[in-house]
Amino acid sequence: MKPCRSDEQELLRLSQQLLDSIAAADWQTYESLCDPDLTAFEPEALGLRVTGLPFHRFYFELAAAPGAVNSTMIEPRVQMLSADAAVITYVRLTQRQEDSGPVSRRCEETRVWQRRDGRWWHVHFHRSANS
Ligand code: GLY
Repeated sequence: MKPCRSDEQELLRLSQQLLDSIAAADWQTYESLCDPDLTAFEPEALGLRVTGLPFHRFYFELAAAPGAVNSTMIEPRVQMLSADAAVITYVRLTQRQEDSGPVSRRCEETRVWQRRDGRWWHVHFHRSANS
């Protein structure tokens, strides 16, 4: 399949859906977007590469009753690596209400998507510590 402009739009839509599922602690949606062998580097993993979904599920279960959270991808860029592979990079800006009032945080994210069996799967990500 040849990459096209609509692939980029679809990957932006799926990435926003992924962030919204994290914000809403919506495990069903998150799992549906991820390869079961998803690999990740993120601050929670203390510099280790984690493979698979159980590590991530733990946090969804902790956040079972999330408050309002708004996640925005700042200047997202989709780079098609081939017809069936893409990297999306952006700064993730998260706004939420905490006891002390509204709080904003930012981090840098790189997410890799692969098209298999006619659909996109999230296969790897790397997230910075909050900066
Ligand atoms: N910690 C889950 C994710 O950022 O995809």
